[in-house]
Amino acid sequence: MANSHIKHLIELAQDESLIDLLGWNTFFQPNETEEFIEAISSYAFPYSRKSQLIPLGIYLNQENFPIGYVVLKCLNMDLLTAEIGVAILDKKYRNKGYGKLALKRLIVYAFNELGLKTIGAVILLSNKSSINMVKNIGFVVTEVKYKSWPMPNGDLADMVFMELTKS
Ligand SMILES: CC(C)(COP(=O)(O)OP(=O)(O)OC[C@H]1O[C@@H](n2cnc3c(N)ncnc32)[C@H](O)[C@@H]1OP(=O)(O)O)[C@@H](O)C(=O)NCCC(=O)NCCS
Repeated sequence: MANSHIKHLIELAQDESLIDLLGWNTFFQPNETEEFIEAISSYAFPYSRKSQLIPLGIYLNQENFPIGYVVLKCLNMDLLTAEIGVAILDKKYRNKGYGKLALKRLIVYAFNELGLKTIGAVILLSNKSSINMVKNIGFVVTEVKYKSWPMPNGDLADMVFMELTKS
C-alpha cells in the first residue's frame, strides 16, 4: 500500500465503535502510518513471532483508495504458522461479502504460496460477526482466554483463539 493509502485507512479508522470490535485505539494522526501498521500487527498465539508483516489493502478497483485491509502477521517459518487480521474500515462496504472474500484470498496465498500449515485468528469474544465469519471459513475455536486482553479503557476483555489448518 502506498503511504497515501495507509493515511486514507487511518482517516476511516477514526470511529469509536471500532475500538470495541478490534480492541485497540484506532485513532491516529495522518502521519502516524508506522504506528498504525504497528497496531494492526499485534499478536497473541504463543507460537507467533514478531516477524515480517504482510499488510494488504482491500480495493474495489485499482484506481480507488482501499476500503479496508487484511494482514498476515507473526509468521513462524519453523512451525509454518501465522496470524491474520481483517477490517472493512469504510462502513458502507460492510456486510457485502468483501471482508470474507479478502480473508479467503489471503488464506489461499498463505497456504499455497507461502507454504504455511496453520493460521490463527484472535478475536474479542464480543465480536460475534467476526467470529461467525471465520467459523464459516473453517476456523475452529482452540481456546477462550477470559479477561486476557487489555482494552484502551483499561478493562480486560475475553478473547477467542481460533485456528485453520491446511488439511
Ligand atoms: C468483520 C468484517 C471484517 C467482516 O467483513 P464484511 O465484509 O463486513 O462481512 P462479509 O459481508 O464478508 O460477511 C462475512 C461473514 O460475517 C458474518 N456477519 C457479517 N455481518 C454479520 C452480522 N451483522 N451478524 C452476524 N454475522 C455477520 C456472516 O457470517 C458472514 O458470513 P456468510 O456470508 O457466510 O453468512 C467487517 O464487518 C469489519 O471490518 N468489522 C469491523 C472490524 C472487525 O471487527 N474486524 C475483525 C476483527 S478480528
